[in-house]
Amino acid sequence: MRRYQLQRITAVGLVFFLVLHMIVMHYPPREIKYENILDQMENPLWKAVEIGFLSFVMVHALTGTYSVLTDYDFLEKYKKVIAVLLSLAGAVALFWGTTTVLSW
Ligand code: HEM
Repeated sequence: MRRYQLQRITAVGLVFFLVLHMIVMHYPPREIKYENILDQMENPLWKAVEIGFLSFVMVHALTGTYSVLTDYDFLEKYKKVIAVLLSLAGAVALFWGTTTVLSW
């Protein structure tokens, strides 16, 4: 899969997750309270949604960051290093976020 395809597919996924998030979290009958969030985060389906949201945003944002950085000619020779650093940052963020969501 090409980079621009990955970027666009994850962008469509983000619209889906964002709309779902806004409807479920920010509109009545829901009240944003700590206890409500705890209840919701115990639901396996909601855990999957949160992990999906996190995965899509990380892939989208880091792929986009790679595109922006490697657009600069003077960074051309560091392409591999940039890819490795961004992948590591993504892996750490995904691990951290996923373990947090699963800890409920
Ligand atoms: C609903 C949310 C979002 C949508 C619909 C969206 C959509 C898009 C689209 C359509 C592109 C261009 C893809 C292409 O031309 O191939 C793009 C690029 C990009 N997005 Fe997003 N995006 C969203 C959220 C985010 C977030 C949260 C971040 C960062 C935290 C982000 C960072 C970027 C970056 C860095 C680029 C690359 C820009 C470039 O190549 O010049 N996006 N996004």
